[in-house]
Amino acid sequence: MTAGTGPRGARVLVIEPMGNAGRFLVEAADQLGIRLYAATHTEVHDGYAPWLRAALDGVCATDLADTPRALAEMESFCREHGISGVAACWEMLTPLAALLSSRLGLPGNDPARAHAARNKIAMGDAFAVSGVPAPRWAAARDPAEAHRVASSRELGWPLVVKPAEQGGSWGVSVVDAPGRLTGAVEAAQRYTHASPHGLRLDTRVVLQEYVPGEEYSCDTVVTDGVAYPLPVVRKDTTSGAYRIETGHTCPAGLAPATARLVRHTAARAALAVGIRNGVGHTEVKIPPGSQTPYVIETGARLPGDNICEVVEAATGVSEAAAYLQAVLGRAPQTEPSRASAATIRFLLPRSGGVLRRVAIPAVPGAHSELHLQPGDMVPDPADSSCRIGHVVARADTVAGARLLADQVTRRARVELS
Ligand SMILES: Nc1ncnc2c1ncn2[C@@H]1O[C@H](COP(=O)(O)OP(=O)(O)O)[C@@H](O)[C@H]1O
Ligand SMILES: [Mg+2]
Repeated sequence: MTAGTGPRGARVLVIEPMGNAGRFLVEAADQLGIRLYAATHTEVHDGYAPWLRAALDGVCATDLADTPRALAEMESFCREHGISGVAACWEMLTPLAALLSSRLGLPGNDPARAHAARNKIAMGDAFAVSGVPAPRWAAARDPAEAHRVASSRELGWPLVVKPAEQGGSWGVSVVDAPGRLTGAVEAAQRYTHASPHGLRLDTRVVLQEYVPGEEYSCDTVVTDGVAYPLPVVRKDTTSGAYRIETGHTCPAGLAPATARLVRHTAARAALAVGIRNGVGHTEVKIPPGSQTPYVIETGARLPGDNICEVVEAATGVSEAAAYLQAVLGRAPQTEPSRASAATIRFLLPRSGGVLRRVAIPAVPGAHSELHLQPGDMVPDPADSSCRIGHVVARADTVAGARLLADQVTRRARVELS
């Protein structure tokens, strides 16, 4: 057994690498010469793709829903294997990663504040304490309390109802009138546990003032409390009651001063939720005519939706590599090495059904992936689980990348019944 943080062959434990960013962590670890280990459940590990199993030097099989047991088992695993960094790759597990790194004396996030990066009620408090611009909000335990909060008129209409703990727009809705509030609260309270680990969720809901305007995301890598903001990404979503991300584009097309402000605000949000050695994924909206980016949420994790791929294709910055460097206490490489453009576009159904046929044409400069296969049920478009597939397009300019993505999605054939 060896221990320590030598520059070569450092070992990082990833608490659940199965999410969207796992593949980017695997690529980055390979490039940096870092060995990856996973903490997960035996049955979740059984479902890992072959490339993920092959990329791991070892697995700590535990019960991530049982915090004392998981901490004890991961701690002895880390000591036995000479682990020198802990990376969470699953939003609900980011507080656990902070507790583990603290127990091991390794670089990591502030365990006393880590809950704020998972729970939108604690997050709202953390933003208020640090003066991060954010929509006004209130919490409610049930529809009756939500009606009382909404009738105070401080949040106005429309307002946004969302689960205190969830992601992927699950259970999030924009509510334009009191008559729709009960249904929205019930939809947000549907999730009591997070799959696949069975983590118990806070079933309270957050009611938020609706922020109009364009939406952006900006990730921040933090090493030893020093924030390194990454490029801003423009986010496209559906409109109406359910806001599902339909695409992400980098660069975001903002004026330099506005982009600087978004990066500054995202960094403040990441620090506010206790990120010290890690990464924060922050989403903001800028109301028309305003210069203030309002923070919608921050997670202490890499972004999902292949944003790592989009940012790297456009700028050369590997968010995953920077994250691994951060959890090892190293100065992250975050300077862009190219000025290109990339976009991801998701294929969404108009309504749910059974997927009968899907074909996405191959076009130079673009590649696509299917999320669902013929025969699969496609849910109604209320959250990101309805996505049928995606296309990533690269070009010299944003206009070129978006045009290419348009061409591919227009020519894609999707049949549902
Ligand atoms: N206060 C708000 N004002 C306007 N739109 C919002 C607000 N909160 C959420 N949304 C929209 O809903 C989407 C999902 O909400 P979010 O808080 O990011 O939840 P999740 O954790 O599921 O991603 C956002 O990307 C945004 O488009
Ligand atoms: Mg979000």
